This record gives sequence, structure tokens and C-alpha cells, in this order.
Amino acid sequence: MGKKVIAPGGIVSGVVELPGDKSISHRYAMLAALAEGRSEIANYSSAADCRSTLECLRALGAEISLSREAVPVVRITGSGLAGLKPPRRALDAQNSGSTMRMLSGILAGQSFASTITGDASLRRRPMRRVIEPLREMGAVIESHGGGHAPLAIRGGELRAIDYTLPVPSAQVKSAVLMAGLYADGITTVHESVRTRDHTELALREFGANVEVSKGAVRVHPGPRLQPRQLAVPGDLSAGIFLIGAALILPESSLMLHNVGLNPTRAKVLDLLISWGAPINIASLQMRDGELVGDVSVRHSSLTGGAISGAQVAEMIDELPMLAALGPFTEKGIEIHDAQELRVKESDRIAALSEGLRRMGAHTEEFPDGMRVEGRAAARLGGAKVDPRGDHRIAMALAVAALGAEGDATIRDAECVAVSFPDFFVTLERLRGRK
Ligand code: S3P
Repeated sequence: MGKKVIAPGGIVSGVVELPGDKSISHRYAMLAALAEGRSEIANYSSAADCRSTLECLRALGAEISLSREAVPVVRITGSGLAGLKPPRRALDAQNSGSTMRMLSGILAGQSFASTITGDASLRRRPMRRVIEPLREMGAVIESHGGGHAPLAIRGGELRAIDYTLPVPSAQVKSAVLMAGLYADGITTVHESVRTRDHTELALREFGANVEVSKGAVRVHPGPRLQPRQLAVPGDLSAGIFLIGAALILPESSLMLHNVGLNPTRAKVLDLLISWGAPINIASLQMRDGELVGDVSVRHSSLTGGAISGAQVAEMIDELPMLAALGPFTEKGIEIHDAQELRVKESDRIAALSEGLRRMGAHTEEFPDGMRVEGRAAARLGGAKVDPRGDHRIAMALAVAALGAEGDATIRDAECVAVSFPDFFVTLERLRGRK
């Protein structure tokens, strides 16, 4: 695809089915590979990241087939907790932090040695946060340059630990919980800020024994995991970019059908509502332990405001879109306590500040966040922007470009495939341009 030119304006309207949730897809695939028998996962995410997980699991001996019915279905046959096989070569998580960190927890429990690596972006990201607890459990892990991939993991019998997360991270929590399935007792993870709880819910679905209390999750080792038939809800973290488009473009009105609304993921909707966004939720139901519903949104002007503290972990993947809404709000948007954004697929604070500034926005960078001035400060114009290979930056800048006064050119726009391969096609369809 290379670059993508976004012409501003238009109206988005219609009903959208989103790709399956990326976070939930990873977890269902990994646990299915550890279960005894064949699981069926409907609406498995089309994200390249989730394909990376399937490729790694295949290399570890899980039998996997993919079929495209009305929705994509992945069938995974696992041979139990001890059923994985030594991979012939290094596992490649490509751009996927979730694959590398969560799978490390599983690899730590195997009786064989393995290596997991990734693309240049993933090899720059911090892995010490999973290495440390897994070493404490007894795994032998070598890394590059003191805490970067490739990770060479020699697993084996693990000790149960009581671990307090030093940074709020659902990936790290999940790695320790997955390793806990292989431990000699009950493993506990404490978190002071609540992060997404899909692993806890998915472990239960597959028959593991998990207890959740305020600020702590406990997992019992074993037992045998049962294969399951599960359906993945639509990915709100992908849908947020379409919601952003509807909020920016006057007269827009959109319905996102069948979206994951797990309370540890959906706080971004409450925030947008508090800023004046007309968002409605209907048809709420529990499916396989996850809350699912339909989200409708209409264009409206937003007040904007501040985001900090626990809100950061609650909407970590939505912060790029929220920042890009800044120039269209009354008061602008200010984000603090979000230093984690600097170690995502790119330094998201730097990438967003630069991209929005090139389009004419007034931005200020802080070590832990940024400020984007509201609509009184500037109107956006056309520009060439570089998302630095980061899917969420590419989509956030593309949406901001819809409200600009000239065409924007997004470099290396194919990176959106990491989480939402059909993003541009969907956006154009909703704008009535295809
Ligand atoms: C994820 C957790 C978050 C999030 C990522 C997906 C998950 O990462 O940013 O996109 O599925 O657990 P951290 O664990 O690094 O916060």
C-alpha cells in the first residue's frame, strides 16, 4: 500500500462489524493450544498480531486450521499443558508485544528450550518486565542488551510466586498467570491499577481455577484445560477510530455491532460521553464471560479535558485516538502519567506530537504525556505524516485528517494491518466512497 492519501470531509454512516478483539483472540488461541482437544474460535481477529500468535503456536506443535465462513473461524487442537513440542527455529512474534510477553509465560513452563524474537520495533521494547517474574518462578531466560528480545527461555518446573506488578500491564499479568498453570502452588499477581482482565476470564472458560479479589488474581496450577467453542467480540480498540471519525465529521451516525464492552476496556466510552459525545449502548449481553453490545454514536462537538492516573491503563490503546481528537475539542486534551506510551510499537507521544503538529495542531510534549490545544488554537491543514510504522498512530492521524482542510498523506499506511487490516476500506465504505 505504501502511502495513503486521505481527503477530508464527508459523512460516516452505517453499521459496522469490527474484527474480533485482538487481546481476547491471543488469549483464546494460547489457551486452546494448551487444552486437551479441539477448540473453535469464531470471529478470531484478522489482525497480523493474532496471526503471529497462531504461527508461533503452530511452530510449537498445535494443530491449527482457519476457515472463512460468515465470520473467520480458527480451529485449534491442543494436546494438554504438557503437549507442546520444541520449535525447530526461533519463534517470531513479529510486531506483537502480546504474543511475545504472554507466550513467554507459557514457554517458561515447558521442559524444552526455545527462543522468541520479533521485528525491529518489538526488539526495542522492554522485556525485563516479564523476564524478572518468570526468573523468580525458576525459568532461565537470556535476553539481548539487558532486557530485549530475542529471549532464550529454558523452562521447567516452576515455583508459585506472589508478584506485584511494578508497571500496570495486562501482558505481564497474563504471562505470570499463564506460567502459574505450571507452578507448584497458587500464583498470585497483585495490581494497584486494574488492567484488562481477559486472561482471568479466558482461563475460567477453559476450566482453570482462578480467584479474583480486589487488587489480586490467584491461579491454581493445572488442571487439565478443556477445549471450548468461543466467539470473540468485536474489537472496541479498533472501533474507536471509527467512533473518532463519526465524532469529527458533522452529520455522521454510526452503529458498531457486537462490540466487546468488558468494563476494563470500555471506560473510553464513559470518558467520551462525559465530554459530550452522544454514545448509546444497546443489546448488552454476556457471552463466554465477556460483555458484548452494540454501540451507536453521532457527531457532536466535544469539550475535551484531562486524562491521568488509573484512566491511562484503562484506555491505554485509545489514547492516540483521544489525542488526535484534541484539535476538534473546545478545551483541548491533556494526558499525564502515560510514560508507557513511549514504549509501545513506537514512542506514541513523540509520533503523535509530530504528526499532529505537521497538520497544524498546537501540541506540547511532556515526559509522561502531551497537550493538544483545542479548536480555538488552530485548524488542521493537509500534511505529509509519518506514523513510524505504528498502526494506532496511522489510524489516529488518518481520522484527524478527516477534519483537516487539505489532503493528508500517511506514510507506510499498511502498518494498520497489525490490528485492523480493513481500516481504510471500512472508513471509505462508511464515507460512501466505495
Ligand atoms: C494488551 C495490554 C496492553 C495493551 C496492548 C494489549 C493485552 O499492553 O497496550 O495493546 O492484550 O494484554 P501492556 O500490557 O503493555 O499495558
